Amino acid sequence: MFNLTAISNDVLYVGASDRRIAKFENAYPVNGMSYNAYLVLDEKTVLLDTCDQAVEHQFFENVEKALDGRPLDYLIINHMEPDHCATLGNILNTYPDARIFGSTQVKRMIGQFFPKLNIDDRFEAAKEGQELNTGKHTFRFLMAPMVHWPETMVTFDLTDGILYSADAFGVFGALSGNLFEDQTHMWRDRPDEARRYYANIVGKFGPQVQNLLKKINALDVQMLCPLHGPVLRGDLTPYLEYYQKWSSYTPEENSVLIVYGSIYGGTENAAEILAAKLAEKGVSDISLYDVSKTHYSRLVSAAFRYRAIVFASVTLDTGLFPPMDFLLSELAHKNLQNRTVGLIENGTWGPMSNKFMTAHLEGMKNITVLDEKVTMKSTVSEDTLTQIQALADSLYAALQN
Ligand code: FEO
Repeated sequence: MFNLTAISNDVLYVGASDRRIAKFENAYPVNGMSYNAYLVLDEKTVLLDTCDQAVEHQFFENVEKALDGRPLDYLIINHMEPDHCATLGNILNTYPDARIFGSTQVKRMIGQFFPKLNIDDRFEAAKEGQELNTGKHTFRFLMAPMVHWPETMVTFDLTDGILYSADAFGVFGALSGNLFEDQTHMWRDRPDEARRYYANIVGKFGPQVQNLLKKINALDVQMLCPLHGPVLRGDLTPYLEYYQKWSSYTPEENSVLIVYGSIYGGTENAAEILAAKLAEKGVSDISLYDVSKTHYSRLVSAAFRYRAIVFASVTLDTGLFPPMDFLLSELAHKNLQNRTVGLIENGTWGPMSNKFMTAHLEGMKNITVLDEKVTMKSTVSEDTLTQIQALADSLYAALQN
C-alpha cells in the first residue's frame, strides 16, 4: 500500500526506509536507511530522484498513487549512485514519456548501469544555472561535482525555496513516520549520526562541499530535501554551520580523542591513564575508543569532531597493529587535517609503532605531532608514567592556544 507524506501543497515524499539493511554501502553499520525521492504535482509532474532496490515496491506504489493517473513528465536525476538509481530503469520503462534531466555524466552512467536502455531521445544534459519551468514551479540546476560523485548536481525550486540537495545533508538511519528534522530530532539529538554520514560519505571532498555551500548561501533556501534522512526546514543555520565546519576540517570540540590498539592490556592501560590525567587537568568531553572494538566509521567521525587526537598502538610483527594501520589509512583517505596529535607506542621487544603512525600522519595536511611521544615496553612503568604526564601537559597546552 502507498505511504505518502506531503512536503508542501504540491510536493509529496515518495521515498521509503529499509530497516533490514545491516551496512549501508556494505560498509557502514546503520540502524536502517532512508532513500528519499520527491514528486512535484505542477502543470507538469516532476520526480526528483529514484530509490534503492530494497524499497522498490513501496517507491513504485507511492509514485503511482501520487500521480493518480497523470503521466510523469520529468525525471530529475541529481545523483546516479545505485542507492538512488537502482530503480531508474523500471521507472523509465513504466513512464516512457518522461523526459530526463541530469548532468552530462549521468547519461554515461545510465549507459553503464542500464546498457539495454536507450535514452537518446529522452535525456537532456542539464547545465549550470539552467532552469526548467513546470507551471507554477521553476527549477534551477546547480552542479555539485564530488558531493558525492562527479555527476552530482542539486536542484533548487525557486517557487518554494526548496533545495533538493542530493547526498548533502543526509543522515544514516531509517525514518519513522516523522519526515521533518524538527519532528525526528535526528540532527539535534543525534548529531553523531549526521557527522558519521558526512565524514564517511563526503568527508574526503571538503573543498567541493565548500563550493556547494557558496552556491547555497547565495540562494533563499527555505527547506533542504536530501536523499537520506529527514527534511530540514525552519532556521537552517545550525545545519549549514555543521557543514561549514566539517567541510573546512575545523574541529568542533576543543578536547581529546584517544584511540588505542592493545593486545594484552598494556597500551590500553596507558591510554586510560592519559585520559585520567587530562581529566585531572580540567579537559572535559574526552573520548576513548578501542580501535579493535569500534567500527572505523565511528572513529573517522570522532576524528572529524575533535581538535586533538592521540593514537596509542602496540607493535605487531615489527609493524603497526593492523586495525590502527587501517584507521590511519582511512583518516588520510578522508583528508583529515588541522589536528594536534599525540603518539604512544608499545612493544615488548621492539616498539616501533610511532614510526609507522608518523609515516601515515606525514601524508595529511596541517597535522602537528607533539614532541612528547610515549614509548613503553609491555606495561606502564614509572618511566612511562612520566612520559604520559608530559604528553598530557603538552596536549593541555595545545588546547589552550
Ligand atoms: Fe546516497 Fe552517493 O548516494
